Parts: sequence; structure tokens; C-alpha cells
Amino acid sequence: MINPLDLYAKIESLIGFDAQYEKLYQIYLQLLHTLHVKTILDVGCGNGTFLKHLQNEQFNACGIDRSAAMVERSLALGVNASTKELEEFDEASFECVVAIADVLNYISPTEIEAFLEAVARVLPKEGYFICDVNTLYGFEGVADGVMCQDKANQFLCVDATFSNKELLTKIVLFEKEGDLYRKVEGSITQYFHPLSFFKKLKIFKLCSTKPVTLFGDEPDKTILILQKR
Ligand SMILES: C[S@@+](CC[C@H](N)C(=O)[O-])C[C@H]1O[C@@H](n2cnc3c(N)ncnc32)[C@H](O)[C@@H]1O
Repeated sequence: MINPLDLYAKIESLIGFDAQYEKLYQIYLQLLHTLHVKTILDVGCGNGTFLKHLQNEQFNACGIDRSAAMVERSLALGVNASTKELEEFDEASFECVVAIADVLNYISPTEIEAFLEAVARVLPKEGYFICDVNTLYGFEGVADGVMCQDKANQFLCVDATFSNKELLTKIVLFEKEGDLYRKVEGSITQYFHPLSFFKKLKIFKLCSTKPVTLFGDEPDKTILILQKR
């Protein structure tokens, strides 16, 4: 079975969220300008589109992603990206860390505190961590359901079910190879993290939140602006 991050990398271009993610990037860029930060680490940088925006707007940015395929796409855009882990950076080496478009939802409730500690380590006191999490509506009203995409050499079927605060997305992808199709199958689990969790953090203060509507009729994501205590 293919690992979830490699699977997401395979289907990313087929699911086609580019316009919605672009809207999200513009909100992040505005926030970063308002906070007057210059050195930025993009955790879960994906295909590097946001890093490219940062580069174009003269930020000093680099990105990391656990998917080597995603990092390759980032590098092809001419941005600074790698599969490094947070632990490999020096302490307090960035003024701001961002984790954009579901990255936190990929992290389970049992792993999230260690992840936040690793983020805090690379920030100075009062450094910012800006990230977004799906709202309950984002999971129940938007993500839950079935989607199929039929493109030239690929056929994708996605079946997502939200229950007990987890979204289980089952994915079947057929990729044409000569006259035959190769079937790739797997699943991705995403986790709902309530705002109450972020309000109680010891290492970060939740400075503000910003509801964002990308897909539905009401906010499906919340951007969180956290500051290291
Ligand atoms: C939905 S994508 C978003 C990618 C990118 N931020 C964007 O805006 O398109 C989530 C990304 O997070 C990466 N990811 C998930 N958990 C991660 C972790 N703990 N560390 C680094 N990358 C992670 C995945 O490989 C994937 O590329």
C-alpha cells in the first residue's frame, strides 16, 4: 500500500484546488506583510507555489515536506525546499513558520503536541506560527463525499467519510501504462483539531483567528496566528 503523503502527491494535480489555494495564499501573504516578518519556513510546502510567492515578494523563505515528490516539484519552481525535518534546523532560525492548507489536519491528536514543540524550537520568543485547520463544516459539509475525475491517462475516485473527528479518504487511481491501467490504492486520514485545543497551548499564545471560506457557503478553514510565549 502506498504511503498517504506519496498518494496525495500523485493525485494533487487531479483534484484541482488551485484557485481555492491561491485565495488562501493571498490571505497568508497579507498576514505576513502585516506582521513584518522576513525569514519564513513553510512546513509541508507541497508543490512550492506558496514558496514561489514568498520568493517573488522578497521574503527569505525555505520549505520542507515529507514527500520527496512534492519537494521535487518545489525545486522545479526554483525555490528552496527539502525533505529535512524540523529538528534539523538550528534553534530560533526563523521569524515565522507557516503550515498551509491542511498540513495540521494530517497530524494526529497524539502527534500534534510534539509537532508544535518542534515548530516552537525553530522560532525565537514571540516568533509567529501561522497555520490553518479545517472547521467541522470543512470536514462534514465540504470534504465528506465522493468525487471522481477522468483525465487523459488517469482516472481517480475519492470516497471520504467523516466520523469521530476523523476524515478517512479512500482513494483509487488508475494510471494508463501503454494499453493497460495500473491501479494505485490507499487512504489518507485527516484529523479535526478544535480551536479550544489551540487556546490552551503552553508554548504558543493564540493571538487571533481568521475564518476562511474556500469551498462552501460558510467558513471551511480557520487560519490561526500563534505566537511563541
Ligand atoms: C494538502 S498538502 C498542502 C501543501 C502546500 N502547503 C500547499 O499549500 O499546497 C499537505 C502537505 O503537507 C505535507 N505534510 C504532511 N505532514 C507533514 C509533516 N509532518 N511534515 C512535513 N510535511 C508534511 C504533505 O506531504 C503535503 O505535501
